[in-house]
Amino acid sequence: MRLMYGRMFQDALDGEHGLPRTRLAELERRFRAVQAEVRERRGSGEYGFYGLASQDDVVRQIRTFAEGVGQAYDHVLVLGIGGSALGTKALLGALRPPAWNELSDEARDFFPRLTILDNVDPTSVGPALRRIDPRRVLVNVISKSGGTAETMAQYLVIRAWLEQALGTAATRHLVFTTDPARGALRELAARESIATLDVPPGVGGRYSVLSPVGLLPAALVGIDIAGLVSGAGRAVERADAEELRANPPALYAALHWAADAQLGARVHVLMPYTDRLREFAEWYRQLWAESLGKRLDRRGAPVFAGPTPVGAVGATDQHSQVQLFMEGPFDKVVSFVTVDRLGEDVPIPARPELPPDLAYLPGHTLGELLHAEYAATAAALARMGRMSVTLRLAELSAASVGEAIMFFQLATGYAGAWYGVDPFDQPGVELAKRLTYAAMGRPGFTPETTRAPADEADAV
Ligand code: PA5
Repeated sequence: MRLMYGRMFQDALDGEHGLPRTRLAELERRFRAVQAEVRERRGSGEYGFYGLASQDDVVRQIRTFAEGVGQAYDHVLVLGIGGSALGTKALLGALRPPAWNELSDEARDFFPRLTILDNVDPTSVGPALRRIDPRRVLVNVISKSGGTAETMAQYLVIRAWLEQALGTAATRHLVFTTDPARGALRELAARESIATLDVPPGVGGRYSVLSPVGLLPAALVGIDIAGLVSGAGRAVERADAEELRANPPALYAALHWAADAQLGARVHVLMPYTDRLREFAEWYRQLWAESLGKRLDRRGAPVFAGPTPVGAVGATDQHSQVQLFMEGPFDKVVSFVTVDRLGEDVPIPARPELPPDLAYLPGHTLGELLHAEYAATAAALARMGRMSVTLRLAELSAASVGEAIMFFQLATGYAGAWYGVDPFDQPGVELAKRLTYAAMGRPGFTPETTRAPADEADAV
């Protein structure tokens, strides 16, 4: 994977916008302190996700499960939300053929179908259960805390559905991925001898895709999980560099922070040029948003920090959001992601009646057109004074996707240090949780203790 970052600088843009190149030297000087802080926090256990780059035993355990028990099912149903679901969606999108669940058994090499329910919307859950045969499903309930309302509500619905079809055998269709010691899910597993996998204690939800959270469902559908982990190892190795310029995730974080802090570029767009990374962009959005959007800094002072991440897909979004990126406010950095070898290409055929205006298309391939569109959009943005970087992947393999995942996790960890915030907590979601509990009648959470203004009065 290569990070191309020249288009962050004024001299590569319109000469007026972008970071002055001298800023890089300043960032390099400050990076020593950032690297030291990250190392220290890592030493005290805060950056637990680094450990996901070397976990041979876990990979072995998951593979054994997937190749043994896992083979008995033709559908895997994942219940989870946020960091317990988005990474798995990204892996499925990037590393399995499109429309996986619609393919025949042969086309899926007899690996199971995979449905990920990450909402409590009855219009998704109801139809999913009507499509799936409870006798042939393995349900993977994923919750690090083991008590998330959405996931637990899904569990109760699915448990009743399983029991209706299978009676007491329902527990054999369940596997929980949760904290090794704490939480309601762990308690239920112990009480009913349900198979469990551990989320490592120092790894938070949105940093957990390379833990059993994402690895189990990935292995069950035939994704090379050892490849994912080895790719992650490559990213961690490169993040060891002392020099900012030699440390891709640290450089990515530093440039994005500088663009935000110095130039007000607080919208950070991730725009892969392939449909296969659409869900990857959604995963990145949660990682960047929930990690960096904070009211308080590390010392407890109000900062209201946080860039706004936006997902886009090329070339589709050239006909949607790119007009805004090109001519709207100078408040964005676009991160393109390109893939050198997509693994498949489609030639554009000629036709005798083709009007001359379209004659330039035949003789090329769709892959060539897609790449030309990326190159043209990146160049056009630069000419308009808009900052961008490009992450160039050689291919969409387990190793390159694992490397890209770890790259963004490392970048987010570094960005936390640049912004001065804790990238591993999410205190901002607590109030809405308490209000939900109150609305659902959970003891101890009355509307009085969780007062919030009603908006019913001003509605038309
Ligand atoms: O990143 C996070 O920590 C969150 O998005 C969690 O993943 C999400 O809230 C789900 O939590 P849990 O896995 O505890 O059910």
